[in-house]
Amino acid sequence: MPVISAPYAFNEGHLFVDLESTCGYPLYLKCEGFNFAGSIKLKAANEMVESAERDGILTSDSVLVESSSGNLGVALSMIAASKGYRFLCVTDSRCNLSTRLLMEALGSEVHVVADQDSNGGFLGMRIEYVRALCASDSRYVWLSQYTNAGNWRAHYRTTAPEIAAEFPELDVVFIGAGTTGTLMGCARWFQEWHRPVHVVAVDAVGSVAFGGEPGPRMIPGLGMSMRPPLLDESFVDEVVRVEEADTIRMCHRMARRGFLFGGSTGTVVSGAADWLARHDTRGLTAVAIAPDLGERYLDTVYQTNWLQDLYGAHVLDSIEVGIPAREPKPASRAPGRRRRR
Ligand SMILES: Cc1ncc(COP(=O)(O)O)c(C=O)c1O
Repeated sequence: MPVISAPYAFNEGHLFVDLESTCGYPLYLKCEGFNFAGSIKLKAANEMVESAERDGILTSDSVLVESSSGNLGVALSMIAASKGYRFLCVTDSRCNLSTRLLMEALGSEVHVVADQDSNGGFLGMRIEYVRALCASDSRYVWLSQYTNAGNWRAHYRTTAPEIAAEFPELDVVFIGAGTTGTLMGCARWFQEWHRPVHVVAVDAVGSVAFGGEPGPRMIPGLGMSMRPPLLDESFVDEVVRVEEADTIRMCHRMARRGFLFGGSTGTVVSGAADWLARHDTRGLTAVAIAPDLGERYLDTVYQTNWLQDLYGAHVLDSIEVGIPAREPKPASRAPGRRRRR
């Protein structure tokens, strides 16, 4: 029985959903939404705050400031409230209402940037806003998730070894790319592992993280309107890009099975299913990472009017629920041979 006295001290790191009956391919989904911040960003936030404390950058009169599409903002709000720091989150109009209210409920100040940058995203404007704040008052401390090595180190220390402990025969891992902290931490760890693992980055169409044409994106978390400074593509074997309409369909397919995940999980699972459909999956052990759960997206991804306005009246018409028709798998090797804990 875990007993904690600080909200950041708990994280469920060993929960996986078997998605084979939902997406029709052998795929295990690592669930990162079971902590008091509700997302994978708790790990990066913890690591960055602790290292700033160790380095003496954060002191009792500091005001933490960060640009976030939401989840890092919630995690920092929670940590700041618990440790007695002030926190100001700079977000944009794509941030879900419930996420913003959550940050305010935790005592944080939230500034919403409404202007888009030249790539059609908000990131450039958010960063300019944070820089101006820091220039105006030396008490502001910007941890900068886009450049802070603590962001990827958190996943090198925790996320990748958690997957490896449960799937010692892992072959392929699917990881969504925002700041690329999760991707780079896991990719670095797996490159040093005794077993070769194929690392597939999943990005949103319209993101310029790995190059490509900028375009409108409405689902927060994944995708960048600039090249992520943490990204080193030499650690990434492949990139899969997903249209937002496919993200939406996958979210709803999982929801109709009772699994309500966040928007970016729909992107990662859709990209993984697409990749698995193009490869021989016999004996393959595949894991994807779900950064958060679905409650924060009830007014967007799971709201009919929002969906129809953005993606058309028929976006959900073709959702298949259940296993699509495919060749039966030979029984020789189980898809994921899990070591029992
Ligand atoms: C919901 C969600 N998915 C995916 C990501 C991407 O993670 P990373 O920034 O580690 O690339 C984030 C990051 O904020 C997120 O909030």
